Amino acid sequence: MATKKKMKIAGRPKASSKVAPAKGKLGVMVVGLGAVATTMIAGVEAVRRGLAKPIGSLTQMGTIRLGKRTDNQSPLIKDFVPLADLNDVVFTGWDIFKDNVYESAAHAKVLDEKTLAQLKPYLETIKPMPAVFDQYYVKRLHGTHVKKGKNKRDLADQVIADIRAFKKTVDRVVMIWCGSTEIFLEPSAVHQSIKAFEKGLETDDLGIAPSQIYAYAALSEGVPFANGAPNLTVDLPVMIELSKRNAAPICGKDFKTGQTFMKTVLAPAFKARMIGVSGWFSTNILGNRDGEVLDEPQSFKTKEESKLGSLEYIFQPELYPDLYNDIYHKIRIEYYPPRGDKKEAWDNIDIFGWLGYPMQIKVNFLCRDSILAAPIALDLVLFLDLAKRTPSLKSLGIQEWLSFYLKSPQTAEGLYPEHDLFIQSMKLKNTLRHIMGADLITHLGLEYYD
Ligand SMILES: NC(=O)c1ccc[n+]([C@@H]2O[C@H](COP(=O)([O-])OP(=O)(O)OC[C@H]3O[C@@H](n4cnc5c(N)ncnc54)[C@H](O)[C@@H]3O)[C@@H](O)[C@H]2O)c1
Repeated sequence: MATKKKMKIAGRPKASSKVAPAKGKLGVMVVGLGAVATTMIAGVEAVRRGLAKPIGSLTQMGTIRLGKRTDNQSPLIKDFVPLADLNDVVFTGWDIFKDNVYESAAHAKVLDEKTLAQLKPYLETIKPMPAVFDQYYVKRLHGTHVKKGKNKRDLADQVIADIRAFKKTVDRVVMIWCGSTEIFLEPSAVHQSIKAFEKGLETDDLGIAPSQIYAYAALSEGVPFANGAPNLTVDLPVMIELSKRNAAPICGKDFKTGQTFMKTVLAPAFKARMIGVSGWFSTNILGNRDGEVLDEPQSFKTKEESKLGSLEYIFQPELYPDLYNDIYHKIRIEYYPPRGDKKEAWDNIDIFGWLGYPMQIKVNFLCRDSILAAPIALDLVLFLDLAKRTPSLKSLGIQEWLSFYLKSPQTAEGLYPEHDLFIQSMKLKNTLRHIMGADLITHLGLEYYD
């Protein structure tokens, strides 16, 4: 493991918040070893072996400015905050299919055969544990490698047993949902408290989806939980309560990778310049298993809701009715097998400027879904582990500073979510400065002109 340089923190000296060091092994429990998960795991191993660079990962490649611009101090984030070293990361997971990570990655066809062949001996060693699954919640999949139990309580106990067994082999644990998108569910009485939820586990309440069973198990065991999909999972009173009670951080949901990433970059630019928007039509074609699951209307609805939110919050039509009151925002996702994981997204944006004159912008993003999502999954895992070791963060429940990575940020009750990527980035970096006792950066900069 590389030794980290001792760093002098710029700015006023402050009491250090004493983030605990990242000692020993970090165990990562991945729910759903499909395209995103296997691309993340294979990528981490490729980086560890010096075969590739961790491009797209802020924790691995990003820097953070400290102090004044004239101080010239911009260390790597991973040298500034005590993150787990990639060499100390150990993966395990669950899936509804028996394929090991090599077989699943080969099936997903995100990484080429040559890369996978080099990593095969390692990837083959990661075999999924049987999953908690119910086809009612993901209609297009037929799971064969699933746990059996007399009720949902029994299934939750089996996941807890898996966590406890894994904990014996590592020093800390984080869980991340990289499973398929479940059907659209709304919070109900069963989600309002730990007591109600535990009763619902006994009575097999329909409102409790498998993703919630994993989250319940993780948070009950003090394990931080990230949700890469748009399912209703930790955005529930019961999970917030568990998260706070057991110092198991949570964040929002649904990796912000392709189209929504572009939206949360472009929309703030229009708003900053007071450019109006009358319509935003977004369409996608993709052909991976995720696309197949999203082809089913109830899973699509879950995704649609998650994708729709960002523009409304960024544009704030209540503050700018002349510019954003009548936006026609439409999102389509079409399952188109020939493209596999190589999604193509088109956005047509109808904008208007000075005196209301209309203009158009077209965005055509030919992306690779899992190549964009893998570094996000990795960063979320590493930052949630950091949050768990940070006294001022670990019992807050929701880690709003991780909104940067998510289509649906989670916030304290009564707060609107911040979707603007640049505000999210500033918030994330200021949180890191804050926990390390460094000065926050406001970009005021008057001191340079004294
Ligand atoms: N790739 C992206 O850009 C992106 C962006 C945002 C969100 N997501 C979401 O991330 C998730 C994963 O995407 P993917 O492309 O890897 O999909 P995928 O279909 O390749 O992988 C999902 C895996 O989860 C497994 N699974 C389903 N239900 C399960 C359960 N209850 N327990 C354990 N395993 C289960 C499936 O068998 C499959 O192997 C999807 O929900 C997707 O919507 C992906």
